[in-house]
Amino acid sequence: MWVTGEVIERIDWNEKLFSLKIKAPVEPYIAGQFIKLSQIRDEKRIARAYSVVNPPGSDYIEILAVAVENGQLSPDLQSLNPGDTIEVTPKATGFMTLDEIPHGALQGKHLWLISTGTAVGPFISMLLTDEPWQRFEKVVLVYGVRLASDLAYLESIKQLQAKYSQQFHFIPIVTRESYEDALMCRIPDAINNGLLQQKASLTINAEDSQVMICGNPGMISDAQTALLELGLTKNLRRAPGQITVEKYW
Ligand SMILES: Cc1cc2nc3c(=O)[nH]c(=O)nc-3n(C[C@H](O)[C@H](O)[C@H](O)COP(=O)(O)OP(=O)(O)OC[C@H]3O[C@@H](n4cnc5c(N)ncnc54)[C@H](O)[C@@H]3O)c2cc1C
Ligand SMILES: NC(=O)c1ccc[n+]([C@@H]2O[C@H](COP(=O)([O-])OP(=O)(O)OC[C@H]3O[C@@H](n4cnc5c(N)ncnc54)[C@H](OP(=O)(O)O)[C@@H]3O)[C@@H](O)[C@H]2O)c1
Repeated sequence: MWVTGEVIERIDWNEKLFSLKIKAPVEPYIAGQFIKLSQIRDEKRIARAYSVVNPPGSDYIEILAVAVENGQLSPDLQSLNPGDTIEVTPKATGFMTLDEIPHGALQGKHLWLISTGTAVGPFISMLLTDEPWQRFEKVVLVYGVRLASDLAYLESIKQLQAKYSQQFHFIPIVTRESYEDALMCRIPDAINNGLLQQKASLTINAEDSQVMICGNPGMISDAQTALLELGLTKNLRRAPGQITVEKYW
């Protein structure tokens, strides 16, 4: 089922990376979930998933997307302007949410949110709710991109750093150029060589850590292997663990 949404704003972070704010009658959702956007082309429906960036409770949805070269839908999304319409699923879905993380003794003290590229979006949504701050002693956001100009939402992240200065660590990673104090190393390597843990001044272990990983599937596979080696296990409903993932492709 589809409803019509109206674009109310487009933010251009760089020539390929953009956000859209879309006013649409979407049902209440949980931070971390995604909706689908769709267009009919040559009588064929093209639909793709996009995580919601803004926290629950707004009367619009915001998504962060990259125009993939020769992609079927994303380049067209990038050309949408305020007033244009796009079809949206009215119900968000997805299990990379904090309520899927074990509560109580199995929860751990430290929440690691690990992302590449546009996958920082669902974590921004979570961080703009009270839940991570109430449930965890420390929250670490790892955000890996190719170039510094690919870092979106830095202003929101800075505000979170100011608000939760004792609780929040932000670790930007820029892999293709040197940028301020960002790490210049792929995420799985930064786990394996201990740089990530060193930057956060925290260890990653099964007792203390919950890790959510989102984005590039190659990064997710390799990061998961690194975390399994540290003794963490996949978080499943039938067997609670510490690693929760969402692959974007
Ligand atoms: C659960 C879920 C949530 C998602 N949330 C987002 C989101 O918030 N923002 C977003 O931009 N995309 C997101 N995606 C990916 C999105 O659904 C589309 O696949 C993407 O926009 C490309 O669609 P396309 O039709 O333009 O490209 P297609 O013609 O379908 O080409 C797909 C190819 O594009 C590349 N690709 C796809 N997504 C990305 C990406 N995000 N970054 C870099 N390369 C990519 C991959 O090589 C992939 O094989 C999500 C996917 C899933 C499964
Ligand atoms: N033409 C352009 O100017 C341009 C610019 C940006 C994006 N794009 C489009 O956007 C897409 C890519 O988007 P993106 O840069 O957001 O995503 P991405 O390719 O997933 O890169 C994001 C981050 O993930 C890292 N990464 C990639 N594969 C990995 C793996 N297997 N293991 C660990 N880390 C990995 C990258 O490191 P590395 O740097 O080491 O790969 C980078 O730091 C492309 O398909 C392209 O279409 C185009």
